[in-house]
This record gives sequence, C-alpha cells and structure tokens, in this order.
Amino acid sequence: MCKKIMVINGPNLNMLGIREPNVYGCQSYSDLEAYIESYAGKLGIEATVLQSNSEGEIIDFIHHALGNYDAIIINPGAYTHYSYAIHDALSSVNLPTVEVHLSNIHKREEFRHKSVTAPACIGQICGLGFRGYTLAIDYLNETESDKNED
Ligand code: DQA
Repeated sequence: MCKKIMVINGPNLNMLGIREPNVYGCQSYSDLEAYIESYAGKLGIEATVLQSNSEGEIIDFIHHALGNYDAIIINPGAYTHYSYAIHDALSSVNLPTVEVHLSNIHKREEFRHKSVTAPACIGQICGLGFRGYTLAIDYLNETESDKNED
C-alpha cells in the first residue's frame, strides 16, 4: 500500500492542451495535475505532481523521492528515449516506479519506440492518455512489490 507517490512529468508536458492536440488531446497540464491529485486523494494517497523541462532537475526530484516517497510515476517525455542519466537515477533510488506515456510511443516515429528509462522501472503504460497515470497509481497501491527488481 503506497501512501506517498511522486509523479514526475518531463519536458514539454507543461504544453499539454496547446501542443499537438491530435496526439496529446485538448486537456491542459493543470487538468492532468487535478486529475491525478483527485484520483489519488480518493484512495487516501498523497500524490505530489512535479514537472520540469530540465534533465538535472528531474534527477534531483528522483533523488529527493528516496526516503520521502513510497513510489514514483514518471513520464520522462523525450528524455525517455536517450537519458541514461535518468535511467541511472531511477536505478540509484530503486523505488517502485512505473513509466507512463500519454501517447502510444510504439505507433509513432521510430526514435520513440525505444525507452532507455523503462528498464529501471517495474513496467510501462503507454497510449492510454491521462488514464495511464491512474492505472499506475492503482498498481502501486495494490502491489506489495517494493523494488524494481524481478
Ligand atoms: C510522451 C512521448 C514522448 O515520445 C514525447 O517526447 C513526449 C511525451 C508521451 O507522454 O506520450 O514528450 O512521453
């Protein structure tokens, strides 16, 4: 049972609602924050929803989660596809982590098909829009597993 979950959104997710609405939909980033916080609140979970356009700041968030949060949900945005540093930060803290993508990255350009960060997570949810975050919350809330290892 997870009490505190850190939700990290990476670069350009602050542009939701403006950015490529055909891919990401018309709802804004504040709509996403409210959706996650309200869903978590109903389950008695405290979700802290953070966003950064900088790789270093995302790494600092991940380090801060250690000892302060029970689990992480991360949408690393485009860093998904090339940030070994975010992969290593997730491996360093070794908290139960689920990677979420709003879009189905496998249906899109070739460079989005690979996630270098997912191997440091329990699993990945993609293509289900906002719902991916609440499914990740349910999983982390219901699962006993406390590490990213098999
Ligand atoms: C994304 C998918 C990434 O490829 C992209 O760079 C993003 C958003 C998603 O949520 O679908 O910024 O992570």
